[in-house]
Order: sequence, then C-alpha cells, then structure tokens
Amino acid sequence: MNQPVMGGVAALNVPAYIKHQKLINWVADIAALTKPDAIYWCDGSEEEYDRLCALMVEAGTMKRLNPEKRPNSYLAQSDPSDVARVEDRTYICSATKEQAGPTNNWTDPAEMRTTLNGLFDGCMAGRTMYVVPFSMGPLGSPIAHIGVELSDSPYVAVNMRIMTRMGKAVYDVLGADGEYVPCVHSVGMPLTNGQKDVAWPCNNTKYIVHYPETREIWSFGSGYGGNALLGKKCFALRIASNMGYQEAQQGGTGWLAEHMLILGVESPEGKKQYVAAAFPSACGKTNFAMLIPPGSFNGWKVTTIGDDIAWIKPGADGRLVAINPEAGYFGVAPGTNDKTNSNCMSSLRENVIFTNVALTDDGDVWWEGMTKEAPAHLIDWQGKDWTPASGTKAAHPNARFTVAATQNPVIDPAWDDPAGVPISAFIFGGRRSTTVPLVTEAADWTQGVYMAATMGSETTAAAAGQMGVVRRDPFAMLPFIGYNMSDYFQHWLDLGKKVEAQNPAALPKIFCVNWFRTDESGNFVWPGYGDNMRVLKWILDRSQGQAEGGTQHLFGTSPNYSDLNWEGIDFTEEQFKQITSIDKDAWVEELKLHTELFEKLSYHLPQELVATKQKLEQQ
Ligand code: GTP
Ligand code: MN
Ligand code: MN
Repeated sequence: MNQPVMGGVAALNVPAYIKHQKLINWVADIAALTKPDAIYWCDGSEEEYDRLCALMVEAGTMKRLNPEKRPNSYLAQSDPSDVARVEDRTYICSATKEQAGPTNNWTDPAEMRTTLNGLFDGCMAGRTMYVVPFSMGPLGSPIAHIGVELSDSPYVAVNMRIMTRMGKAVYDVLGADGEYVPCVHSVGMPLTNGQKDVAWPCNNTKYIVHYPETREIWSFGSGYGGNALLGKKCFALRIASNMGYQEAQQGGTGWLAEHMLILGVESPEGKKQYVAAAFPSACGKTNFAMLIPPGSFNGWKVTTIGDDIAWIKPGADGRLVAINPEAGYFGVAPGTNDKTNSNCMSSLRENVIFTNVALTDDGDVWWEGMTKEAPAHLIDWQGKDWTPASGTKAAHPNARFTVAATQNPVIDPAWDDPAGVPISAFIFGGRRSTTVPLVTEAADWTQGVYMAATMGSETTAAAAGQMGVVRRDPFAMLPFIGYNMSDYFQHWLDLGKKVEAQNPAALPKIFCVNWFRTDESGNFVWPGYGDNMRVLKWILDRSQGQAEGGTQHLFGTSPNYSDLNWEGIDFTEEQFKQITSIDKDAWVEELKLHTELFEKLSYHLPQELVATKQKLEQQ
C-alpha cells in the first residue's frame, strides 16, 4: 500500500460557490493523505451524471443497456468477491467498547486511526477523488442532515446522485460553517507506476469504520452498495441512530433512525394512515412499500414514502412523525416481477443502474424470478456465457437496482414533505419458516419492544456469510445500530413513555408479522406480496380499536380466520392454521434463544424486558 506515488499533489480547484473553509481544508487534508491524481467537485447535474457514466462505460465498469429496451440505463458487474455488505469488517469505534456494545465490532479509535492512516496513505494514486455533497432528507429541512463523501469511485458518485439529494445546492445549505458528516471512501486499489485499472477495482482488505464521537465514516476496499454509498447504512442508520440517542442523553426528546419502510394507506372513504415496518435485509421492505392491494380491496390505495430507512421523531402534537432520508431505492432485483410487484417493475423501465444482474442478448437485463422461463442465453453477472443448463444463478442473489424514488408510480405526495408523516402502527417481521405466526399485536409498548428486540430471522444474501440460519436480528437493526444495543432498547422504551405521557392516544401500536412460514416441502404457505394487504387491513383496524375478535395468546393477539378478508383468494382455514399455529415446544426452544440474547446483552439491558421474558416463561 505504501508504494511511492508518482507525480505531485493534485490541484484543489475549489469552485467559487463553496464558502466553507473548514470543508475545503478537510478535502485538502484527505487529498494529501490519499494522493489522488485529480480532485473533482460534483455539482449533481444531469450532464455530469451522463459524463461519469460514459467514462465508466469506457473503463468497462458499466455497460450501457439497449436504449430501445431500457432507456438511459446501465449494468455494472462487480468483482465476484465484492457483492454484499461485510458485517465482520464493520466497526463502531466509540471511545469505549461498552458504548459500541457486544453486537458491534470495536477497536480503540486511536488504534483504528493508525491502521486506516496506513491503508489510506496513497490509496487514490492514479485515480480521481470525487467530492460528493449530499443531504439526507429534503434540502434545508430542519430534520435533514448533510454529509460530504470523498470517494475514488465514479460508481459511488452516480449512485449517490440517485440515492440522495446530491449536488451544488448542498453548499448553499452549508454556508460558511454548517455542519456535515465527513465520509471518506476508497476502493483501495491505487494505480502506481502505470498499473492498468480493472473493471471493478476493490481490495481483499476491507474496513467500514464509524467514529460516533466525531461523526466520521471511513470505508476502505469495497465498491459495493452499503459498504460504499456512505449516506445510506453508514450515515442514515449507524451514525444517525447514535445522533438520535445522544440527543436524548443530553436532555432532549431524542429520535430514531430505523431500518424501516414507510407506507401510506388510503381507504375508499379517503381516510389516510401511515405505517412503518422493519424487516431485515432482503425480507420484503421494498415489496411491502409498493404493495398493490388485491382486486377485492376495491378503492384502497397504498403509496410509498420510503423503502428502507425511516427517521422518526415526536412532532408538535406529540405524535411520532417519520421522514425518508433517502431519495432513491437500492433494491433487491431477484424475485421482482410484474406479478408480485408491478409498481417496482414500472419504476425500473428507464434511468436505472443495475448491479450484478444478467445481460440478455438484446442488451436488456434479466434475473431469477423476473419471468417464469429463463432466456435461452444470457451473459451472467460474472460476465460469462449462461444457459438454463448452466446450473448456476444468472444474477447474483443480492443483485440490485438503483433508481430515483420519483420513478415509483405510487410515490406518496408527501414523500418529500420536510414535516414528515404521522405513524399509526409499527410492524416488525422476520423470515421464519417455522414458529412465528402470520401476525400478532403486542399487548402494549413494552411487549412490542420485547417482541422487536427478540426477533429472529433466517440470513439472506444481502450480507456476506452463510445463508438460511436463524439469527437474532433485533428491530432488523443488528448490523445497523451505531451504539450499545441494550441502550438502544432503553431508548425505544423511554421514547414510548415520553409520547404516552404527552398524549396516550398518539402512541402507535406494535405488530409482528411473518410472511415466510413453509410447508413440509419447503414452499411458502402464505401467498405474500399484494395479499399482505389482508394483514395490513387488520393491523389498521386494530390500531384504531375497530377490530373485534382475535385470539389472545402468550405473546399478544392474533386474528381468527374469520377476522381477515378472504375475498378473491382460495386460502383455507386449514392453511391459515398452518401459519398461525403456536407450537408450545417450539416456543420453549425460542425462549431459550431469547435468554441467550439477553445474556449477551446483560450490560444495561432494561429490567422491563427481563420482566417481560419472565412473565412469558411462567405461562
Ligand atoms: P433490503 O433492501 O436489503 O433491506 O431488503 P428488503 O427488505 O427491501 O427486501 P425486498 O422487498 O427486496 O425482498 C427481498 C426478497 O424477498 C425478494 O426476493 C422478494 O421477492 C421476497 N419477498 C418480498 N416480499 C415477500 C412476500 O410477501 N412473500 C414472499 N414469500 N417473499 C417475499
Ligand atoms: Mn436495507
Ligand atoms: Mn429494499
């Protein structure tokens, strides 16, 4: 890494519209460390986007798709080793280990800085450093926060333009001394002594590092999604969750940064409600956020505020209001099709960056599940010839699309509203082939927090590592909480109490769902997707206190077969039992896993949650 770098220091060439001397000095410092050949200040214009895409087409990083099939769209194929978030290389470097907690990797910040200084020294040699200014949340809104990412990857610059409010206008908001979160990113492959570049540069050594005290992010060695687009998981979840917690620690109300979609539901009578739902990565958020109600729900409309991240704070009237800090969707492609999610498919007609899907012979894209039958010939995500006989997946299971939120045909009119939308219910859900019933309403806030805190889910391709094993994923936030998880639970409990104290009716009800129970042959029993509306309707009725019936059990209340609308679907009571039954023995085993989690989290674990578990164990 520390090879001599050719040439001198790149010229700064600061655009005249930037007045923030501290930011300029920081860019100069990082350039002095990383030694890029050139520095480029992104303005966020369309012309710039087109130019950077053209540059990547020339370099082989992206292919332009057939404009007749997929106008203004590109396909990037990554290095086979760089396809998902790397949780075991992700660090929360708070002052003490306890502040990061047992679920995060931690290294002493001073020690980590020494390591990273070594890695970043000269790491941008032969490349251009892009200065990417962005706002998470509507520009200039009081709840938005600003970041600036320095990256040697043009793929990052163009993706950030879709995923965030990126460009020149950010500097107007920053002025001469506004606050921003500094984000430094490198693919970690300097081009020294005339070394030739590759299509997808990256490094086997990877570090995704957060310093919560100074609110900094440093990412090395990966060009992929959540590792490299630092506004998303790193800032909007890990750093932001810490900011919301710190605000409460300093005497404020505090706020929440959550791995949640936000959707709006309008009834035929025109009543509008919003719910926020947390499912782990690749467990259905983007799909649920764009849900199309079945035909029997005539007059019901579902609209999208956000598909991945929610920032939530008590509003002036005491209700919890939420915004989507992002401006685009970085969604899972495989499994998406016209039948299960035609809103998503319509969003993807043009102006899309696809990553790690397959290329068709006529210059379009394909992935598993897009059509019933695969095309006879494809170029797979690794650039190799592929036929249905190949026996491999044509698209990587974690292949993604990047697309602007505004292309969603069911975008909610309030998606960009800086005031946010009031939340009526929280939904938590994991991917569980057994044990967990279709839907349960928690008896109260504390029990809801308990259910979310102990949630388990089978692992997916969204993170590197083994797939299909059940792991605890509290609040679907295991990889994203930027501080101690027990303190995070306490923060949720405290916030609920504050809302309740001001206006008890404003406290959203909490529900748990599971779309993924399977039968003996391993097939999903619940049809899912649009039919999830049947469960959502019950949730809305319950949160307004309108639903009668239901069965109370150990963990809360679940609907009876007759409580859901079955119009237009052939789903028998027998099948319903299959996905709602509660197997006592399985739950005895499940509670042992809760105990295991609580033992791990014993430092600062809220006593209320321990008491809730004891009550469950006694039943
Ligand atoms: P991230 O963007 O990684 O946070 O994931 P996500 O929660 O947005 O997941 P997404 O909606 O992209 O869904 C991931 C996978 O789950 C896809 O393969 C979907 O086809 C599948 N899926 C989504 N909803 C359902 C459902 O209701 N039932 C079933 N069986 N599968 C679903
Ligand atoms: Mn996600
Ligand atoms: Mn998603």
